[in-house]
Amino acid sequence: MKTCLMLGIIYLAVACGMPAFAGEAKKADSTKTTHSYVGVKKCRMCHKKDGIHPSWLETKHAKAWDVLKPENQKDKKCVACHSTGTTAKGELLQGVQCEACHGPGNDYKKKKIMQDRKLAIENGLIIPDEKTCMKCHNENVPKEFQAKEKFDFEKMKAKGVHKIASKKPAKKG
Ligand code: HEC
Ligand code: HEC
Ligand code: HEC
Ligand code: HEC
Repeated sequence: MKTCLMLGIIYLAVACGMPAFAGEAKKADSTKTTHSYVGVKKCRMCHKKDGIHPSWLETKHAKAWDVLKPENQKDKKCVACHSTGTTAKGELLQGVQCEACHGPGNDYKKKKIMQDRKLAIENGLIIPDEKTCMKCHNENVPKEFQAKEKFDFEKMKAKGVHKIASKKPAKKG
């Protein structure tokens, strides 16, 4: 009888506690999905030797900020496509840096996570596809700067991204 009562109380406590726990877990999850930008210098630490950073530096993306006149660098409309994002400290990352295509990197940049593609993707890494490019290469580009040809992903990837060495399949996960 006594044990029965005890179990009953424990059961009630757990049952009543449940919604609170569930609520907390949900909250924690939703904050986890917001990653923040760290900037190209952080990526360079590990992606210089493999030739990726140096080859990115040669692209127009690396210089996309410099083509804006000083007054355009204050125009939110131009800044949106000619920059990457803002760090947690509020620093604007100029030009089309790694994270403009690969996603904000504070959570995936750790070596242990980076080495595991699945884990990296879970922590915000994006394996870019045509849709990634379309965030900027779209009809909102001012008329005078629009490309003459229709955006061709494979052609543009070869021309404007960086060295891609591996034989890894271009699929997610
Ligand atoms: C501590 C070292 C380190 C840092 C910092 C780092 N990476 Fe990596 N990254 C690696 C390693 C190691 C790999 C796995 C081997 C490889 O593909 O080069 C990797 C792989 C990648 C891949 C390929 C993933 C795949 O499976 O195709 C991308 C994309 C990438 N990193 C982007 C970035 C970006 C963007 C940053 C900056 C936000 C960054 N990395 C910062 C070490 C690092
Ligand atoms: C929707 C994204 C987007 C917006 C908004 C945008 N740009 Fe661009 N801009 C691009 C892209 C993409 C290109 C490259 C087009 C191509 O050649 O494929 C480009 C190219 C340019 C170029 C040509 C650089 C060169 O190498 O010749 C200049 C200059 C430029 N933009 C200035 C501006 C200014 C000024 C504004 C604001 C009034 C602006 N852009 C707004 C995406 C954008
Ligand atoms: C304009 C978009 C863009 C930018 C900017 C960019 N990348 Fe990439 N990156 C790609 C694409 C596209 C791929 C190929 C994805 C696939 O199909 O596997 C790729 C692949 C990679 C890979 C895998 C390479 C391999 O050989 O498999 C690494 C590592 C990487 N990027 C790191 C970086 C780093 C570091 C920077 C900044 C210095 C950067 N990327 C900037 C678009 C971009
Ligand atoms: C954050 C916005 C943004 C994203 C995302 C982006 N680009 Fe760009 N891209 C630009 C801007 C801005 C320019 C113009 C830079 C300049 O001319 O100085 C540009 C220029 C280029 C150029 C040079 C065009 C030329 O006429 O020489 C190529 C190639 C290119 N992008 C390919 C890609 C590919 C491929 C992707 C996707 C994997 C991609 N871009 C994603 C903003 C972006």
